[in-house]
Amino acid sequence: MFEYPVNMSVKPEVTAFFDPDTNTISYVVKDPESNACAVVDSVMDIDYAAGRITFDHADRVIEFITKNDLKLEWIIETHVHADHLSAAPYIQERLGGKLGIGSQITVVQDTFGKVFNEGTEFQRDGSQFDRLFEDGDTYQVGAMTCFAIYTPGHTPACMVHVMGNTAFVGDTLFMPDGGSARADFPGGDAGTLYDSIQKLLALPNDMRLFMCHDYGPNGRDIQWETTVGDEKKHNIHVGEGKTREQFIAYRTDRDAQLDMPSLIIPSLQVNMRAGQVPTDSSGKKMLKVPVNGI
Ligand SMILES: [Fe+2]
Repeated sequence: MFEYPVNMSVKPEVTAFFDPDTNTISYVVKDPESNACAVVDSVMDIDYAAGRITFDHADRVIEFITKNDLKLEWIIETHVHADHLSAAPYIQERLGGKLGIGSQITVVQDTFGKVFNEGTEFQRDGSQFDRLFEDGDTYQVGAMTCFAIYTPGHTPACMVHVMGNTAFVGDTLFMPDGGSARADFPGGDAGTLYDSIQKLLALPNDMRLFMCHDYGPNGRDIQWETTVGDEKKHNIHVGEGKTREQFIAYRTDRDAQLDMPSLIIPSLQVNMRAGQVPTDSSGKKMLKVPVNGI
């Protein structure tokens, strides 16, 4: 198996920002050796019914970075989210940093470029981002060497980002009592997701795992941090004793019962453009709704 450059002796400081509207958790990850930091999975607020976009959540992240005198080096998207809009360009404009996503973003752009009937002006080569990560690619946040693990299944472009003894799992895994994310979006696949989760579970048992989402199953409080060891033992979909076949059967059955995320239409249009809201021919910001298209 591919050897990832794991270094558990590097212990970054992680600060979480929960968004109650979309149950998303954004993170600021600080290099222990310097004031360099990264932002993982930011959120732009939208009142979709009113077509109104605001930045209260992103402003909280920006204020934290500014107040603590941190230098933003990377803005990471674990994947093209279908349930919230990214605030990456808003944050980048104010604080700098490079914007990165998995290289298979091109597949997602191709799929949804067609769904939204985007013209030739919509580039499907990932050029809206500063960096497209391949499996095992490394990058620096200050003195800290970080790397990406390719984890398709939920979407074709999903990546887990490992920074020292912490990993940001995107929608590959949920908390142990939440299981895993759906695998029925275009380009998703339950068996592929199972295989990706195995890559993650092969990391050291005490690796700290940070979720992108939590829905507080069975009425518990919202949580976002666990460990590889805990997921291996207790995850209700992939924990001890669960086979690939069982996972596929469960996931397929469950996904057939799920409604589309309420923000999927605006999320995809914005997130496949690295967080930029599309414009019409006059330059006005405008979102589309493909009828019976998804
Ligand atoms: Fe997702």
